[in-house]
Amino acid sequence: MNSINDYLNKIICGDCIEVMQKMPNKSIDLAVTSPPYNLKNSTGNGMKDGRGGKWANAALQNGYSHHDDCMPHEKYVAWQRKCLEEMMRLLKDDGAIFYNHKWRVQNGLLQDRQDIVSGFPVRQIIIWHRNGGINFNKGYFLPTYEVIYLIAKKNFKLAPKANALGDVWDMGQDLNNPHPAPFPVELIERIIGSTTAEIVLDPFMGSGTTAVAAKNLGRKYIGIDVSPEYCQMAEERIKKGHFNGKKQQDLLSLFPQDCSV
Ligand SMILES: C[S@@+](CC[C@H](N)C(=O)[O-])C[C@H]1O[C@@H](n2cnc3c(N)ncnc32)[C@H](O)[C@@H]1O
Repeated sequence: MNSINDYLNKIICGDCIEVMQKMPNKSIDLAVTSPPYNLKNSTGNGMKDGRGGKWANAALQNGYSHHDDCMPHEKYVAWQRKCLEEMMRLLKDDGAIFYNHKWRVQNGLLQDRQDIVSGFPVRQIIIWHRNGGINFNKGYFLPTYEVIYLIAKKNFKLAPKANALGDVWDMGQDLNNPHPAPFPVELIERIIGSTTAEIVLDPFMGSGTTAVAAKNLGRKYIGIDVSPEYCQMAEERIKKGHFNGKKQQDLLSLFPQDCSV
């Protein structure tokens, strides 16, 4: 496959770098993704060796079905930078990446993922405030936010009025999705709807949330995931549809004409 048309509205099961390397330069408008966070390479003992602690009940205690989420830090950073490089190569000159990640404290120091994004054209950081969560011990406040790096090529512009959304977004988690770390559909609808992108790529597609949101908004998607189970999950969700209790027509009329909050 080397024409972008061969990839449209497809979920491809494979390693994202290998798949992206076959895709043509400047062929997509937007990448929206949440990579594995390498959470099991952690100074918090429970997540690392399963003894419990603050991560005792975390959904990702066992990693993903085909990725253990426990790489040496330097290797993880190099991998993520390579993924971002490939996404940048695939983006048109007015394209952008919405790259979701989590900041954390390791050995008393802030791990703010600067080592991953440095040198890429980070334009803005959006805070995704998740409204609650589960687990955690009495020594820690419940973590409720993640960050979304907007990494934008020079000619990228938001859809009309989308700038009124601000940079702190309150969105609950999707508690009905069996994937261990899914996006809520609403979050991705907001991202895609804030742009005029026609072709949206998610190289870490998981349960297919980016595809579902793109389809809801009448855009085209390309999804990649290394796990056959999650790819199957994504296919089923896309087929079934997920409209947050709204009709697709209502969603289409919300974006991008009126993104006011
Ligand atoms: C944070 S999850 C993404 C969840 C997704 N946003 C959703 O809403 O379901 C990260 C995903 O990356 C996938 N993954 C891990 N290594 C990969 C690789 N080398 N290539 C493609 N996907 C990979 C995992 O299987 C997992 O589904």
